[in-house]
Amino acid sequence: MKILSAEFVLSAGHVSECPDVEVPEIAMSGRSNVGKSSLLNAVLGRRALAKVSGTPGKTQRLNFFVVNERFHLVDLPGYGYAKASATARNQWAGMMQQYLRTRRQLVGVLQLVDSRHDPSREDREMIEWLSTERIPFCLVGTKADKIAPSKRSAAMRRITDSLELPPDQPVVATSSETGDGRSELLGWVGALLQEVEQD
Ligand code: GTP
Ligand code: MG
Repeated sequence: MKILSAEFVLSAGHVSECPDVEVPEIAMSGRSNVGKSSLLNAVLGRRALAKVSGTPGKTQRLNFFVVNERFHLVDLPGYGYAKASATARNQWAGMMQQYLRTRRQLVGVLQLVDSRHDPSREDREMIEWLSTERIPFCLVGTKADKIAPSKRSAAMRRITDSLELPPDQPVVATSSETGDGRSELLGWVGALLQEVEQD
């Protein structure tokens, strides 16, 4: 799939504020600072469409982007921010559960994990939610530029093993710095969209 156009649509502070249109949507999920906004920009080939920051917890809203006038890509708020208050965590969990359970337009998730580290408790929980809700997801390893190319597939295998994911689980190692994994990711998104458009 080629990116022909990408525009910011809106930023929702609550699920009820999400766009009320029949456009399939793919969400990017992962802990704070894992590289969601950076990857969104890298995949769309746009420098600063989504805001990137060295400070975790930057994106606290659901940010919608329309791509190729065909689908929405949603930059979800990150989890696992150590300094977040219990209230903020509960708010995040409430909003995410409501989003995953009720959002009809959601057809798939790009679930990001840092390719250098073992998945966190929250990563596991999120993947469990996706499985429970039967939402197709691609496991995306981020910051792969920090691992030698020869060690990347072993790093990703270690992560999928520790998450006990099935052998046919889609997995891509990516880097927003080098663009590695971009075409595989777009391939997964394109195939998913084709499937839902046929229904
Ligand atoms: P929140 O919005 O807080 O949830 O964070 P996020 O997941 O959107 O992360 P963001 O894209 O803002 O990136 C966090 C930090 O990681 C920034 O300093 C980025 O420059 C850095 N980063 C993101 N992707 C990569 C990558 O592929 N390689 C390297 N080396 N650094 C990256
Ligand atoms: Mg972000």
